[in-house]
Amino acid sequence: MGLNDNIPKHIGIIMDGNGRWATKRGMIRSMGHRAGVERLRGIIKMSSKLGVKALSLYVFSTENWKRPKEEVGVLFNLIVEYFKKEIRELSDNGVVISVLGDMDSLPDLVRETLEEAIKITSQNTGLKLNLSINYGGRAEIANAFKQMANEIENNKLNINDVDEKTISQYLYTKGLPDVDLVIRTGGEQRLSNFLLYQVAYAEFIFTDTYWPDFSDEEYVEAIKEFQRRNRRYGGLK
Ligand code: IPE
Ligand code: IPE
Ligand code: MG
Repeated sequence: MGLNDNIPKHIGIIMDGNGRWATKRGMIRSMGHRAGVERLRGIIKMSSKLGVKALSLYVFSTENWKRPKEEVGVLFNLIVEYFKKEIRELSDNGVVISVLGDMDSLPDLVRETLEEAIKITSQNTGLKLNLSINYGGRAEIANAFKQMANEIENNKLNINDVDEKTISQYLYTKGLPDVDLVIRTGGEQRLSNFLLYQVAYAEFIFTDTYWPDFSDEEYVEAIKEFQRRNRRYGGLK
């Protein structure tokens, strides 16, 4: 495949462009979301195969509640359907599922489905697959501040111990390495509130390809592009 050993440990993907993919074909937006889900299997398999440790997928943002409730419903149904269909194979492949985001305000069936998937795969040792659902980077940071303040108040945390590392322990991504590479499909060049704290030194790759058309080959090409980047972290190289 032409890759070297420098595989990103943690990749984040903003899977954007489902709606436009469908509209371009004269289909309703939900067909685009359905086609988008179809791409997950390949991308997850490829990530495992390449030795990526963690893959974080942006599925539903805290801002996506602004969409018509029919579309929100379609997205939640697809999540439930996806796990019904795929959980077996995911688990057989050693994938460990986790959810980044506030699960409490999700519909019961969605939350139960996710909790079940987390439980079933918790003992696995393969790819960590993190689904950002009802996720917002600012909400995540606000939540971390609240928890820390609470622990300081109750003398469980010393204010002098609050540093960058400590903060990351209060984020949904606790225990995961920083994000090395963010890929955004769909042509927009923005973060849309995705993993704000974790992408401080990530490399960014933006592609015009709509998510349902984002192939395994283009994924490998993106990682090749990552490998050509010179990461300096503020130093000199
Ligand atoms: C990304 O596709 C999926 C979600 C945000 C849930 P979009 O639905 O945003 O597709 P576009 O950007 O409208 O084409
Ligand atoms: C980002 O896409 C969220 C997900 C892919 C889940 P959006 O389509 O919601 O982002 P904006 O509105 O273009 O910034
Ligand atoms: Mg979009």
